[in-house]
Amino acid sequence: MAEEKKFKRTLVTTALPYANGPVHIGHLAGVYVPADIYARYLRLRGEDVILVGGSDEHGVPITIKAMKEGVTPQDIVDRYHKLIKESMEGLGISFDVYGRTTSATHRVTATDFFKTLYDKGEFIEKTSQQYYDEEADQWLADRYIVGTCPHCGNERAYGDQCESCGTSLNATDLINPHSAITGNVPVRKETKHWYMPLDKWEPKLREWILEGHKEWRTNVYGQCKSWLEGGLQPRAVTRDLNWGIPVPIEGVEGKVLYVWFDAPIGYISITKDLLPDTWERYWKDPESRIIHFIGKDNIVFHCLIFPAMLMAHGGYHLPDNVPSNEFITLEGEKISTSRNWAVWLHEYLADFPGKQDVLRYVLTANAPEAKDNDFTWRDFQARNNNELVAILCNFVNRALVLTHKYFEGKVPPCHELTEQETAALNEFKDVKETLGRNIETFHFREALKDAMGLARIGNKYLADTEPWKLAKTDMARVETILHVAVQIAANLAIAFEPFLPFSAARLRKMLGMADVNWDKLGCLDILPVGHQIEQPELLFEKIPDEDIDKQIQRLERIKQENLLNNFTPKAVAQPCTFDDFLKLDIRVGTVTACEKVKKADKLLKLTIDDGLKGRTIVSGIAKYYVPEDLVGQQVCFIANFPPRQFKGIESQGMILSAEDADGRLIVVGPQGSVKPGVQVK
Ligand code: MF3
Ligand code: ZN
Repeated sequence: MAEEKKFKRTLVTTALPYANGPVHIGHLAGVYVPADIYARYLRLRGEDVILVGGSDEHGVPITIKAMKEGVTPQDIVDRYHKLIKESMEGLGISFDVYGRTTSATHRVTATDFFKTLYDKGEFIEKTSQQYYDEEADQWLADRYIVGTCPHCGNERAYGDQCESCGTSLNATDLINPHSAITGNVPVRKETKHWYMPLDKWEPKLREWILEGHKEWRTNVYGQCKSWLEGGLQPRAVTRDLNWGIPVPIEGVEGKVLYVWFDAPIGYISITKDLLPDTWERYWKDPESRIIHFIGKDNIVFHCLIFPAMLMAHGGYHLPDNVPSNEFITLEGEKISTSRNWAVWLHEYLADFPGKQDVLRYVLTANAPEAKDNDFTWRDFQARNNNELVAILCNFVNRALVLTHKYFEGKVPPCHELTEQETAALNEFKDVKETLGRNIETFHFREALKDAMGLARIGNKYLADTEPWKLAKTDMARVETILHVAVQIAANLAIAFEPFLPFSAARLRKMLGMADVNWDKLGCLDILPVGHQIEQPELLFEKIPDEDIDKQIQRLERIKQENLLNNFTPKAVAQPCTFDDFLKLDIRVGTVTACEKVKKADKLLKLTIDDGLKGRTIVSGIAKYYVPEDLVGQQVCFIANFPPRQFKGIESQGMILSAEDADGRLIVVGPQGSVKPGVQVK
């Protein structure tokens, strides 16, 4: 259940985004919006809570970006740290501190942390073979090396991870490795590194998570379990690089701490920046609670590696929960920074000024809490128009307009309650508890539904009681109804504060509520009788089709550009001999007839003059050609494949084709006219 144990204070952290690009809706839905809801809720309850975030400013991707742009890594992180920090503020993510891992505090903290483990003998020293680019005169750590994933065959896997199947890799696992700097095939050289012996911590981690934290989200618990069951291996915590925190060991040069070693320590150093004198309360006091909000690709680091580091160090409190989300896709496709397939926060804020809460609402209503979810612009528009405008805004506006119309904006008195009130109020009763419990157990989608439920109740109440019809006959009844309606509006100003802070603040201003008090949620005496309310303004407005179309067109443009620009040829196949080639009998033929194959929308039946007795070939190009257009054309085909049946037609060979930038197949033929039956050599 929600809170079995009472905590004195809570430290909420959000994964530190790499400062090599702006943040997008994937980051927001996965980490920052839920963390902000949680922190705002706890503040509303009067709890001692801090929300700590910052930029992750080390690691290879940053140096690669700097190299490509011809600037320094520091230039890159300065640029994106500023952009990320400002855009998060713009969305109302209520960080108590937003730090960075290039700060002096961080350098000292991470250095000391490493030294402590080193002095305690917690590391293993190992010499191993690593890749080296001789032309660039540089070691190839992590993303400096690209090759084929041994698990899924993705040809663009990195030395630390395959983004296609999510497996974490060692550079030496890659098939066909090459340098991301020069493209050269790297050489292997010996180098010394320090490793965290995770195997040593495995029993403790098992007990701590598998026995002690069964309440964690199933996706998190499950991932930990499968890592633990696979057996933990020692992990290198240093790298041969020149960007990062230097390894603090005498005589060691040109090596830095691995970014995943220093970054989580950033949570500690950034807390120090916020609270130089009292930070230890949040990190060391067993009565404190630590909650890490992260995306699912970060689970192993936060649940296994960082806790092992903390255990090895001693004195630190381990995380109490790690509510990790799954991912969101954008219009059905994986979000990708490199392909620009994303909705960038800073662009959203510029394109939809004043609509921060709409994005917060949509990302929460559709949060990927248990499975991946899709963000689409049509859904964004529909949720704004049909939920925020039609339900929340509509109710508040009606309640306030009517109060002004009949009572000059003064909260009317409440007389006897009827069945209509009790029906509405019954539904109201439990909301404080359910909403609170849902947030405390990290069910933010459900919690948002609870809050929206209040607005629905209000809407229904006004629709059922129709006070505008009673004004001539029963003013006392109108007083009661609008008294109740205005109190429901005041409830909304409390309930929505964690989710839609901008709108909740506007609503409080309209209602003249000086403060928000969670304890008042569910009460009908929030605003005293006679209290003056301001003229209402609309909390939300419909988003027109044009605005949405613009966004969709932008994505379509990007898709086109990606198809044209981002094509990378496959790595060349295994060597073959001339004899292998001769086994394939490739010939030129002339298409003499062509028709669609019935009941198969992809297939065309081609009749080919092959200089012999002619042949029939069935080909999957129906989507790209009008049959008549192919008649008379010369094509290349493989003549010696065994015949195959398609929809009852025997196909005697295969037409050769190539894919164009739009993914369409184009048949391949000779540049000039040749005799049917001539071989291609
Ligand atoms: N920069 C990492 C990422 O975006 C997250 C780092 S979280 C921290 O995947 F714990 F290391 F700080
Ligand atoms: Zn893979």
